[in-house]
Amino acid sequence: ASNQMWGGRFASGPDAIMEEINASIDFDRKLYAQDIAGSLAHAAMLAKTGIISSDDCDKITHGLNTILSEIEEGRFTFSRQLEDIHMNIESRLAELIGPTAGRLHTARSRNDQVALDFRLWVKQELIRTDAALTALIAAFLDKAEIHAETVMPGFTHLQTAQPVTFGHHCMAYVEMFGRDRSRVRDCIERLNECPLGAAALAGTGYAIDRDQTAKALGFREPTRNSIDTVSDRDFALEFLSLASICATHMSRLAEEIVIWSTPQFGFVRLSDAFSTGSSIMPQKKNPDAAELVRAKTGRINGSLIGLLTVMKGLPLAYSKDMQEDKEQVFDAASSLELSIAAMTGMVRDMEIREDNMRKAAGAGYSTATDLADWLVREVGLPFREAHHVTGRAVALAESRSADLGDLSLADLQAINPAITDAVFSVLTVDASVRSRKSFGGTAPDGVRTQIAYWRQKL
Ligand code: ARG
Repeated sequence: ASNQMWGGRFASGPDAIMEEINASIDFDRKLYAQDIAGSLAHAAMLAKTGIISSDDCDKITHGLNTILSEIEEGRFTFSRQLEDIHMNIESRLAELIGPTAGRLHTARSRNDQVALDFRLWVKQELIRTDAALTALIAAFLDKAEIHAETVMPGFTHLQTAQPVTFGHHCMAYVEMFGRDRSRVRDCIERLNECPLGAAALAGTGYAIDRDQTAKALGFREPTRNSIDTVSDRDFALEFLSLASICATHMSRLAEEIVIWSTPQFGFVRLSDAFSTGSSIMPQKKNPDAAELVRAKTGRINGSLIGLLTVMKGLPLAYSKDMQEDKEQVFDAASSLELSIAAMTGMVRDMEIREDNMRKAAGAGYSTATDLADWLVREVGLPFREAHHVTGRAVALAESRSADLGDLSLADLQAINPAITDAVFSVLTVDASVRSRKSFGGTAPDGVRTQIAYWRQKL
């Protein structure tokens, strides 16, 4: 038998393989709430503009609400033969209210319908992402507050560079996730136009009211070009892009957590709640959650590249290729949500091993820059010369397997006679950190200023 929704010109039904490659119901059923909301708004607009009678609108509305409860209560039978969520719902509506159901699709196409449903879904996901990121940022702010003075080594090339505070390091992530959050908000802004009324691609001859449906569905305004409207998946690509960037941030954090929780570093102790054991080695506590967050980045990046590749060769307007947009976005969205939640839990629970951090902060000649700066400030050497003098002091200390602060004044004066014993006060990690008072620097008061800024911004 040919398809009941569009089979008028067909003599036979599809091959089983055709049905399998064509059907999207297995994944686009996720859009049921958006589809029904769109249909309710569309029917109300058709009645208000006199395109359908208010009696018919009432029947349609009642039927759609029945279907919503059927789906929510697990009493709805989805059919692959009906391809997608749109036709599953419309076909059930016909069972419930008879031929009146056929009036719902007046002045509408599945092309503007799916564009609407998907936009609504992505918008809701963006709102959830915004809330999740806010919680992650809050977890970092709490840690930063407690550890505004906790000294740790700062790294470049993963080699000890200069002492910083753990609070300052936390605030670096706050900046990253804060930018992610602003990308989420930008995406909502641009997405916030209603596709309904673009119909198949050319608009419609019915005197519809697109402002009414746009407003009813929570959009700022209707889209302005019907061809673009059914062709456009930028909102999905933007979501995947911001998800990839955010996942990249989490992946770097995950990598740090993996490194920090090794016995060799010993900077943090992960909570039992976010680690696992080994089935053979009884002593093990593995950072699996961090590793999985790092790995989810691969999936999310894959989704972005996947959809970019689907879209790149498509002539305007709609092509069925675009049906492949949804799984990419659904998969990336659940990976992203889960990763943010896992990160928030890990950060909240993470125990900071201050002693180990402090010990490591002083190792590796981390205050060498402070010595060079002292020579500039107190002796008046040009920085390049001070750099050279300090390098000789480091080499001397290294030859004795000692720290800079272990050298005697005589040792230092042999390198440069103008050095006095006042120099030793700048060679401690605390003095180093406190001296970095430039705006955005690691000095504890500066870190507290940034915490206050973000608290007020959240
Ligand atoms: N299931 C389709 C999709 O997800 C709905 C739109 C179908 N439109 C069409 N012209 N065949 O894209």
